Amino acid sequence: MKDIYILGIESSCDETSVAIVKNGTEDIATVISSQIDIHKTYGGVVPEIASRHHVKNITIVLEECLAKANMKMEDIDAIAITYGPGLIGSLLIGLEAAKTLSFIYKKPLIPVHHIAGHIYANSLVHELKFPLLAVVVSGGHTEIIEMKEHYKFNKIGQTLDDAIGECYDKVARVIGLEYPGGPKIDKLAAVGKVTYKLPVPLKDDSYNFSFSGLKSAVINLVHNEEQRGNKIIKEDLAASFQNTAIEAIICKVKKAIINNNIKSVILAGGVAANNALREAMTKLATELNVELSIPPMKYCTDNATMIAAAGYYAYKDGRIADLNLNSKSQDSLK
Ligand code: KG4
Ligand code: ZN
Repeated sequence: MKDIYILGIESSCDETSVAIVKNGTEDIATVISSQIDIHKTYGGVVPEIASRHHVKNITIVLEECLAKANMKMEDIDAIAITYGPGLIGSLLIGLEAAKTLSFIYKKPLIPVHHIAGHIYANSLVHELKFPLLAVVVSGGHTEIIEMKEHYKFNKIGQTLDDAIGECYDKVARVIGLEYPGGPKIDKLAAVGKVTYKLPVPLKDDSYNFSFSGLKSAVINLVHNEEQRGNKIIKEDLAASFQNTAIEAIICKVKKAIINNNIKSVILAGGVAANNALREAMTKLATELNVELSIPPMKYCTDNATMIAAAGYYAYKDGRIADLNLNSKSQDSLK
């Protein structure tokens, strides 16, 4: 069978990334230009600034990726692009680049949903086994998705308000940590103790989540302690918050695995880089005797490798767009 090379482009938030993936599983070359240091000054991503940096970086990143792979555009079979969801200005830069390449080199254009990308990050390290449950935990999403075959997604649970990553970032800001706060809370929590009492959100029968109440509980706790003149022990608050957030995820995932007779689970999204969550998921998988796939750290946060990997399966599913394809800041995974 002829090898298929997909060029992926990702620019939905503050990473400009281009990658080439062979047959949906092999990372041939990946280049990521991150804007974290730029947005750190503002405590979060500033959309207008992010768009401008994508414009500046996109051709450089593309050329670097092709050079790294020692390939030319002529060697590529199709172009996969994150069409959404994400920051509209950022998405449009990647999309225009993809459309231009598709037009000039006459390559099929494959629209990829950002979350499909996070899910397919796992196919870069393990063959996906169906039926599976994808636990998506990122800055913009917290979802449980059931997949019975490639590129067929059935969302069975989701956050009713904030995403878990968003909650990590907001809690981090309250305790004075720099953006992005998730990895910093992860580090602090590792040396802290669970001493602060926080409510585990949405303990119901659904597979849904809610993180805004937990965020408010942390903010209120910090303010109350400050008013009483008590010093917050940041490590302990980080550990207490993380323990509660992870408990909220694990209890719903556990229920979903048992009720749906699932044998294979994958973790996906930026928060999949969280050490405590990785440990808790591993423990749960052992307890329930299910196979677990967790992407390596480099494929957890945003990258084009996962978009190219998902693009391969979308391509095989016949999902080809024309040049009228538009970016969408919001869109459900279908
Ligand atoms: O998937 P991602 O790169 O972007 C979105 O698609 O949203 O996820 C970014 C999110 C941020 O909220 C960041 O704080 C969080 O992932 N994150 C972490 C860790 N590494 C990244 N959260 C907790 N622990 C980590 N180690
Ligand atoms: Zn992402």
